[in-house]
This record gives sequence, C-alpha cells and structure tokens, in this order.
Amino acid sequence: MVLLDSPQTAALSSLLTSPVDLDSRSPNQQLLPLTACLNDRDHLEIGGCDVVDLVAQFGSPLYILDEQTLRVGAQQYQQAMQRYYPGSAQVIYASKAWNCLATCAIVTSEGFGIDVASGGELYTALQAGVSGEKIYFHGNNKSLPELEFAIAAGCTVVADNWLELERLAELAPASGNSPRVMLRITPGIECHTHEYIRTGHLDSKFGFDPNQISALLDFAVQHSQVNWVGFHAHIGSQIFELQPHQDLAGVLADWLAAAIAAGLPMNELNVGGGLGIRYVESDQPPSITDWVKVVAESIAAACQDRGLPLPKLICEPGRSLIGPACVTAYTIGGHKEVPGIRTYVAVDGGMSDNPRPITYQSAYRAVVGNRMAAPVSQTVTVAGKHCESGDILLKDAQLPVTEPGDILVVMTTGAYNYSMASNYNRLTRPAAVLVHSGEANLILKRETYQDLVKNDLLPERLV
Ligand code: LLP
Repeated sequence: MVLLDSPQTAALSSLLTSPVDLDSRSPNQQLLPLTACLNDRDHLEIGGCDVVDLVAQFGSPLYILDEQTLRVGAQQYQQAMQRYYPGSAQVIYASKAWNCLATCAIVTSEGFGIDVASGGELYTALQAGVSGEKIYFHGNNKSLPELEFAIAAGCTVVADNWLELERLAELAPASGNSPRVMLRITPGIECHTHEYIRTGHLDSKFGFDPNQISALLDFAVQHSQVNWVGFHAHIGSQIFELQPHQDLAGVLADWLAAAIAAGLPMNELNVGGGLGIRYVESDQPPSITDWVKVVAESIAAACQDRGLPLPKLICEPGRSLIGPACVTAYTIGGHKEVPGIRTYVAVDGGMSDNPRPITYQSAYRAVVGNRMAAPVSQTVTVAGKHCESGDILLKDAQLPVTEPGDILVVMTTGAYNYSMASNYNRLTRPAAVLVHSGEANLILKRETYQDLVKNDLLPERLV
C-alpha cells in the first residue's frame, strides 16, 4: 500500500493522507475519503477495497461510501461539541444529504439524531432503528398525514408556517402527550453560497418572518397543549465563512430571551447545518472542529450576555459529514474531439446520479482509478450519457490518457447525489457499497429495468 503521491495525484497535494493521523484530519477538508491510498496495482483503494475490483463485482456506475470517513467526521462533531459547549447538546444528521438505512444507522450509532424533511425520510430513519425522540421533522409544507406520522413517532416537529401551527395545536390533544415543537424563523442573515441553497435571507420560502415573533409567541402562550421547545434557523449550505454562524447566535438568543420573557419555558436552540466541503483544491472550508467551536462558543456567549440559562444546543450537518465519505466510480466510454475546442470523454452515468453540476454549476475533481501512476496529460470535459447538452459532470478535468473501460472516480459525491438522483432517460439508479477494512457491503441495490416499470400501468384499452 502506497500513499497517494502517484504522478496523477502529485498535482493534488491535498489528497495526501497519512494513515497515522486519520482522525486528526477534518474529512470536509479532504478531496478523497480518509482511507484512500494507492495499491501495488496502481489502483485507487478506498476502505481497503480496490475500486476497480468493486466495479467488477458491483457494476458501474457505483457509489462507494467509506465508513471510516463518515465515522471520523461524526466523532469530530461529537468531540468538539463536548469540548466547546458547556451545556447539553445534540448533533443530528441532515439526512436529506443521503437518506438510506445504512447512513441513518451509522450516524445513529455515533450518537447522532436525524433530521428528516419528509414522511419518506422519516419512514427510512425509523426503519433504520432510529428512535422517534432523536428525530427532528423539517419542511416548509408538511402535509397533515406527515404531521400525524411525526407526532405518532414521537419526533420533534420544526414548524415552518401558520397552517402547521394551527394543525399541530389541533392534533396535540388527541396525541396523548404534548408534541415537541420548534419554531423555524428566517434569521435574515446573508452568506456567500449558491442562490438556490441559501435559506437564511429574508426572502426565503422557509420559516416564519422574524417580524412575526410576538404574534408567534402569543400563539404559543395560548396553546399550552403543545410543548414549545425552542427555535430553529438555518442560514444555507456549502458555507465557508464562520461569521454568519456567529451572527446567528445573537439572533437566536434574542428570540429565546423574548420567549422566556413571554413566560414560555423554551430551552433549545437549533442552528441548522451548512458547513462547506472541499470539492476542488481552491475550496478552503473551516474544519469541523473549528465550525463547532465557533457555533458553540457564540451560542454560549450570546445566552450569557442576555442572562439566559444555557439552552440545549442542536446542530444538523449534512454535507460536511457524508459528502467527503463517498466517491462515484464510472466506466469511461467513447470520446469526441472538437479540434481546437475541447475533447469530450463520456461516462456511463451523469446528471441522473449527480445532478449537482447541471443544477448548481458545481465543480468536482476526478482521477482515473485504474491508472493512478499515469501522468496527467490532457484536459478533457467529462460528459454524462443523458440526452441533454448540459449533462456535463466535469469541465476541464486534468486526466491521463484514457481508454474505453477505464474507471473514472469522481470525488466528494456523498452529499446530495444519491438523494437527488433520478431516472431521467430511464437510467437505473446505481448501486452503493459501504467499504470498511477491506470488506464491501451492498447498501443500495442497483435498480433494474423491471424496477423502472414496476409502477407503470397500461390501461386495458391500450393493450
Ligand atoms: N438543516 C436544514 C434545515 C437544511 O435545510 C439543510 C440543508 C441542512 C440542515 C443541512 O445542510 P448542510 O450541512 O448539508 O449544508 N441540494 C443542495 C443542498 C441543499 C441543502 C438543503 N438544506 C446541494 O446539492 O448543494
């Protein structure tokens, strides 16, 4: 086993991972999972498994999830929270980043709770064995059945609008015990991230307008059948700045002070998620530990300044936990040269397994997993196989000469890839394997053609 300093990866200094200090590296600052290395066949190895062998065994494209990277990230969140927050705390996984039985089970075994954003995510978390008390139910338009499901499961509901509040107040008496409810308020904090993944600025579909705080508190006081536990705010995703999180602490503490002054015994603050990850070398996110330190110390200081008892602090990372733990392996097919303009290299997946480039113009890094020792010799555009010109996975990828059948490994694909995957062009969704200490377990089966038609119906008169 060799460290990752092959000719192909020499340019990627940030890929270098030393096995001795696995735990001290913040996964969100790495391009490859922490266990990535080069084996004696010049292949990329992750979790002790050769990616080329994984594709041979499980097919292509393939999501490869490294359990150790996920666990190390989870442990860094937990340890930093214990170290820097003097009160009680709960870290919960924003499962929208990648919700499936295995991801929910792994983070839960690290002491995490789960943030779910739909009945389907809630169902999956419960099926994974997560207990309802550790689940927080989000969403800007929860249906009545979803609210009933959440209450019956004993979740905390993060209420987003007046309709939900009225429904929760109506459902509470019948539920047998007061449902736990947090109020999500738009904090009015700007941060630098893609317009579609910014949620904290005032013109957002999420949360109550902060100008309605006194009306909200009046409503809460009048509906004591509900257990009003605190406030939630989320400022956005893929954020590298720490200042917006510091600003958020003051805003949340002001709301908590107002609630306590109104006689509501609220004692929980949920700061959302948002810590960014390194997709390309130029990305410089803070470490998990630094992020937690700033969040924890700011909340503690903001509450102390206002003479408030320390609330239970909740944060809900998604991308920073799961994003760096996974890569996607594709098989290279044909190529097309447009003289003087560019060379397209096509792979057997694309916008259906990773919709982030076409949706947010997100950049990714890739290596050729079966030729790690080959020198980088060309700049190519990696195209997906969908009938859509914009289906480009990587622009200007620096790769060695490639041949059909080579394995292209795209990095940092754990977050918002599988969870946003589709069947566009009726491509089947890829399989996912969990790798750990040389063992690979299938955690998501590859869809089949039969799966594609299983919900189709052909009316009798068309037959
Ligand atoms: N909490 C709430 C209420 C959220 O809405 C989100 C993400 C998170 C936590 C987790 O944020 P994270 O730690 O992952 O940044 N599909 C987009 C990202 C959408 C984020 C949605 N909410 C993307 O692919 O970039």
